[in-house]
Amino acid sequence: MCPTGSDSARVLLVGAGVRGAKWARVIAEAPDATLAGIVDLDEARARRARDEHAPDAPVERDFASALAHVAVDAVVIATPPDSHHSLVSQAFDQGLDVLCEKPLSDEMDEVLDLIARADNAGRHLVVGMNFRYLPTSQRIRHYARSGGLGDLSYGHFTYHRQRDGNRHDLNDYVMTMAHPMLLEQSIHHFDLLRYCYDAEVESLVCDTWRPSWSTYGNDCCVSVLFRFENGVRANYLGTWTAAWNRMDFRWRTEFERGALIQREQFEDLVRIDFDRGLGLRGSNFKGDAEGETPVPEPLAPCTAFIDDTRELLAEFLRAVRGEAEPVTTARDHLKTLLVVQACIESEQRGGWVALREMEERFRVSAPPVNTNTGEGRSDADAGSARRQIAENVGRSDEETGFPS
Ligand SMILES: NC(=O)c1ccc[n+]([C@@H]2O[C@H](COP(=O)([O-])OP(=O)(O)OC[C@H]3O[C@@H](n4cnc5c(N)ncnc54)[C@H](O)[C@@H]3O)[C@@H](O)[C@H]2O)c1
Repeated sequence: MCPTGSDSARVLLVGAGVRGAKWARVIAEAPDATLAGIVDLDEARARRARDEHAPDAPVERDFASALAHVAVDAVVIATPPDSHHSLVSQAFDQGLDVLCEKPLSDEMDEVLDLIARADNAGRHLVVGMNFRYLPTSQRIRHYARSGGLGDLSYGHFTYHRQRDGNRHDLNDYVMTMAHPMLLEQSIHHFDLLRYCYDAEVESLVCDTWRPSWSTYGNDCCVSVLFRFENGVRANYLGTWTAAWNRMDFRWRTEFERGALIQREQFEDLVRIDFDRGLGLRGSNFKGDAEGETPVPEPLAPCTAFIDDTRELLAEFLRAVRGEAEPVTTARDHLKTLLVVQACIESEQRGGWVALREMEERFRVSAPPVNTNTGEGRSDADAGSARRQIAENVGRSDEETGFPS
């Protein structure tokens, strides 16, 4: 049962741009949700999404006004990152659970403050890490956790995309962002490495740069070498400025007894069953004819950005109904944001950066209560959570803006 008393969660969508249009479809088509309204500063965009997906839903320009007029169980926010802190805070003030798009904010103080506010309000704060729910990602995670191919040793993740920022069907705000690739795109890839490998980053070294023909104002090429706490290594190259318009995605993971190779961004995962003895036979540099034959992993069909988002919404709605704690929380997202911060630090000063250093800099410590649940604690827990996070960020309640 949802807070408004309905079985179908009434969800208010804020932001009807490129991403919000997808959210409008996913919410409207969900069997256990109703698109209760759409808010966008650009009302024409909100109307377009409404007309396509929920003809009866009210449309508003102002979030506060929509909250005053529309009965809502939960909010999905798909606006640019610099608006997230204000919008999420307003939703918590109304006692609502929130699913907010990534990055939760590009300011770490704001991220920590929102986590504290979620704890304080006893509300859920889920983040738009939908690529976790691609069948390819779930399969890689399955092998990493089950040991089905033996121990995971290292990975190599490459994402070459010629993303022309001047396209009319892309957002504009990234054109002038300080770290467009890191904060908008690599953040998904770092999250996938953490989630699918089921491991936390121990340290990394990073470089970023901007090719001369890039449409972006700032660095959009990112190269990182990761060491994970469990000894796994990963090598990453991601870019929005390439010299071939064909999308080129490849994520290869080596285990003791074989390899997984994802050859397209949302599909085409193959398994190699490693034949050790083969190394002593045949030619020294084997081609397709001599190497082990890749075996396609059977995967459910998936419409990218829709089916993965459906799964994320389902997780959020279970939390809204009080049926299960979410996994893809802001507290979990914080770990990915610390990886991004470590990349920025490494790029600026050169050399390896330990994640522990970032945790100390941003005064992040273990969550105050159950590490698996994060947000959504009881009112009794909220006070101690509030004090703990205030302590983490090294500020008093007055300074952090927590109601006392
Ligand atoms: N998870 C994913 O797969 C994915 C994919 C694309 C974008 N995103 C994220 O979604 C968010 C939005 O990106 P986008 O590409 O849709 O951007 P966009 O610029 O296309 O759309 C943003 C919309 O938000 C509206 N808006 C801005 N501030 C507002 C406010 N205060 N109140 C109401 N409306 C407001 C704008 O008018 C615009 O229509 C970003 O955080 C981005 O990183 C996530």
